[in-house]
Amino acid sequence: MKPIQIAIDGPASAGKSTIAKIIAQDLGYVYVDTGAMYRAATLAVLKAQIDPQDEQAVSQLVPKLVVTFAPGEDQQEVFLDGQNVTAAIRSQAVVEHVSVVAAYQTVRQVMTAKQRELAQSTNVVMDGRDIGTTVLPQAQVKIFLVASVKERAERRYKENQAKGINQTETLAELETAIKERDYLDSHRALSPLKQAQDAVKLDTTGLTIDQVVAKAKALIAEKLSKR
Ligand code: DC
Repeated sequence: MKPIQIAIDGPASAGKSTIAKIIAQDLGYVYVDTGAMYRAATLAVLKAQIDPQDEQAVSQLVPKLVVTFAPGEDQQEVFLDGQNVTAAIRSQAVVEHVSVVAAYQTVRQVMTAKQRELAQSTNVVMDGRDIGTTVLPQAQVKIFLVASVKERAERRYKENQAKGINQTETLAELETAIKERDYLDSHRALSPLKQAQDAVKLDTTGLTIDQVVAKAKALIAEKLSKR
């Protein structure tokens, strides 16, 4: 039987990874964090001291990279060429450059191919920006998660605090950075952040994680019962 594909797209900090992880665990599906793949590519670019604006140099490096996932103790671990980069891909330097690297054609082609491969033989919950529109257009369930910019900045701030990350940005600065990333992600030429026509929009503003999970699960059950 064809594997089941659940696509969860939406802007930065809308709660995609939190929700996708819980759903994947509950259903026993594999969770694929596609943002982590673009982040790992960006980290590799920075480590190689390549200017992220240098499309040609970035395009030569990225096809050679091996990005893999493995289940960790309390989170999924991300590896770049065998090295654990789970924490490093969340750094400020990566955040600042990832939208530029993720906009290049070669980078998107390489990542899209890897993501499709991952979804070929096993049931997945995949989160990103272009999963429902480009990577898995045939996904049986497509959810587009949104939340107000203010709430997304507040969530990110609390998340960083909980992780003990030394925050150099104020809440207002975080809000501005999120807006900028939204703009870049939704205005790039290739696979911009966009709701797929057959995706269901879920606004998580003011909702708890449990409430969002419940809504998403109801939606998934409904979609899968119609197959
Ligand atoms: O979800 P995230 O914040 O970890 O994503 C990091 C960046 O990667 C984000 O700015 C846009 C990009 N991205 C993308 O272009 N396509 C995806 N499918 C996932 C993420």
